Amino acid sequence: MSSLYRLAHIWVVFLFTFVTAAASEEQPPARTNWRAWAPYRPNLYFGVRLPVPDSLLMGLMWARGDDDDTLRDTCEQDEGMTGYGWTKYDVRTGGTQLIHDPELHLNLQTDFIKSLDGDAWAIRVGGSPRNDAPGIIKTMVAFHLAQARLNAEEGRELKCKEAPEALSADQSAYITCEGELPQLGHFEFWASGRATNKLVGNPVVRQASMPEDEIWKAKSAFVDQVTTGGDSVPNERFGNMQLLQMTFEGPFQVDFIYKPKGSPPVSETVTTLLSLLESQFDDRLRNMFPVSAAFEGESYTKFTASLLSNLLGGLGYFYGDSKIDNTRAPEYSEVDFVFWTKAGQAMSRDEITTTPPTQLLSFTPTRLFFPRGFLWDEGFHLLPIIEWDLDLAVSQILGPEARSKIPEKFQVQYPHYANPPTLSLLLPIILSKVTKASPYLGHPSQYLDSPHKTTDLLSLQKLYPLFDKHYEWFRRTQAGNFSAQYPKPASAMSGEGYRWRGRTPTHTLTSGLDDYPRANPPHPGELHLDALVLKSEVAKHSKQLEDIKRNLDLLHWDPHSAAYCDATISPSEKYERVCHLGYVSLMPFLLGLLEPEHPHLPVVLDLLSDPNKLWSPHGLCSLSLADEFYGKGEDYWRGVVWMNMNVLAVQQLHALAVADSPSQDRAARIGAELRRHVVHTVYDGWATTGFVWEQYSGKTGEGKGSRAFTGWTACIVLLTGLEFPGFEAEKATRLVRQPLSLVSQLL
Ligand SMILES: *[C@@H]1O[C@H](CO)[C@@H](O)[C@H](O)[C@H]1NC(C)=O
Repeated sequence: MSSLYRLAHIWVVFLFTFVTAAASEEQPPARTNWRAWAPYRPNLYFGVRLPVPDSLLMGLMWARGDDDDTLRDTCEQDEGMTGYGWTKYDVRTGGTQLIHDPELHLNLQTDFIKSLDGDAWAIRVGGSPRNDAPGIIKTMVAFHLAQARLNAEEGRELKCKEAPEALSADQSAYITCEGELPQLGHFEFWASGRATNKLVGNPVVRQASMPEDEIWKAKSAFVDQVTTGGDSVPNERFGNMQLLQMTFEGPFQVDFIYKPKGSPPVSETVTTLLSLLESQFDDRLRNMFPVSAAFEGESYTKFTASLLSNLLGGLGYFYGDSKIDNTRAPEYSEVDFVFWTKAGQAMSRDEITTTPPTQLLSFTPTRLFFPRGFLWDEGFHLLPIIEWDLDLAVSQILGPEARSKIPEKFQVQYPHYANPPTLSLLLPIILSKVTKASPYLGHPSQYLDSPHKTTDLLSLQKLYPLFDKHYEWFRRTQAGNFSAQYPKPASAMSGEGYRWRGRTPTHTLTSGLDDYPRANPPHPGELHLDALVLKSEVAKHSKQLEDIKRNLDLLHWDPHSAAYCDATISPSEKYERVCHLGYVSLMPFLLGLLEPEHPHLPVVLDLLSDPNKLWSPHGLCSLSLADEFYGKGEDYWRGVVWMNMNVLAVQQLHALAVADSPSQDRAARIGAELRRHVVHTVYDGWATTGFVWEQYSGKTGEGKGSRAFTGWTACIVLLTGLEFPGFEAEKATRLVRQPLSLVSQLL
């Protein structure tokens, strides 16, 4: 059989798989598709892998045709990109990403689709010169495939060869590969391109033999191969990394396709399937995240699609060992004065253990600086995901919650440190979906479609014990000290008061609010408001919740400042509140601990809506303008606007606005205005810079910190559909005023 015939055959076979997938959209998926191939390497502009330890690691690189110094691989801040990310993406099916690379005068589009069973996939890479390109540009594209645990003796090898041949009137094959891995069996992979592509020279296969722990270093492997003039004879290759390289002049379109060897036959085009995916995505999005009158317009629809898609596209799979300090040194009990100095000395003894490798499938805050899992962020990530794909959200909870104490790679972890248990924010939402108290419009869910599965999920085997374990662990490790030595207000209930471990005079990293001002110096008798309130989310017994609510007012309400505050023990051995007004003061409200009739609620609303304190035209500031530490030091949680907290605030105000409460009208007015401020701030930043940001300036609304931050900033999608009764008049006039300069390029 000629290789030409064989190629035509596999092309056809591959397409059949997708047609089947599209046609049976009505059927529940054969299996949970996030366990299949996906772009689970979010730190790369485009990288694909299976969520299993030993597999193929693949990805796309590109460069200016004759300049390897411009090679793009991992998402970087300094490559002058004016935006990159998914315009539409769903973990179950695939999607489209746009990359704007002005330095290379190039716009790239990467379309990823996969079969229903997830066994086969394709990525189509389209390159087009930007308008400002100086004449005809050349672009080099390199796709890399690295095979973990290559075992040459057993014949498990990956072989690629150049095969420039016409496949059909409008498609040419460039390179074909075959391989075998225990998890994958026999598979085929090939690169082909549009017949109208202008190839410069012939496609080339380069191979590299990388050490096992460096097979992710595609860029350096490529550069080594090129600079050492690595051999590129057009013949069969052997090695654990293959680099498929081709250079084009002008616009081009190239497909990279993977499928198991010997799948069934048939007749459609990737193009048709892509447009089908697109329209399905749009319908779903309109259904699940409708926009209220205030944000009508195509630009807002695209904005919402981009936020959600990039949140989904940030899902990554990680596998590796971890560094842990398991010494349980006495200093770690943090009971002494200057406990942080002593703990620091214990840490510097550096008795670090390496754990066996573990797996983690987790959303990531940003593909740029933090392409790894964060427990504190993950609870927020899952708020929109629950609406879109309940089963995906549940799989995340059953996963990371159980592993919450399992550390990240290369980061020493201490078992006595806890993060805010934000995953517990999700339990009430899941319950409301399961009991149909709130509608679920997302992907078909096995938990909602089968009463048996519902019971199973909520049963003693699944969710409950995980939350319970986390709850008890938090309660034990972050307990406040109620011994008689540290005075407390009379009639406070002993036990329900908490303290973040791992403090220093300047930082409380464990709280998630790193540099938010606290008592200084730290004191072993202090109590942190947010630790108490966050714990209430998982209070399993009504008695404990009652005690928490009681202690909230007894231990943490400061009549003098008229605010909820941290507390410590003063030099004269008195119980003393430490008030730095900001997000911490708002926590009881943000997490729903204040009943609509609570006597302090009006004062909390005063604090929140006071332009001299937390209120700004761009959202609620993390620290009061009037605080001595506002904008000081690293200025991370000392004033700038964070969207996760603002989303909670708008949701609580909305809940008050639709409840029959004394604060109803006021909450509706403040809520509608705050919602407008935060949605416009994130939208404007996206429209002018091409990115959403980690934080925003309360003064100018300018994006700050890391860009491409579609972790919890994406929670904004939960707000655009809210209706504020009596405030429909606030139409988004800004939409018309916004020049949309970059947006029009982006879309
Ligand atoms: C509370 O503080 C006292 C006095 O420093 C100390 O002896 C005790 O061990 C502490 N208890 C806990 C649970 O940290």
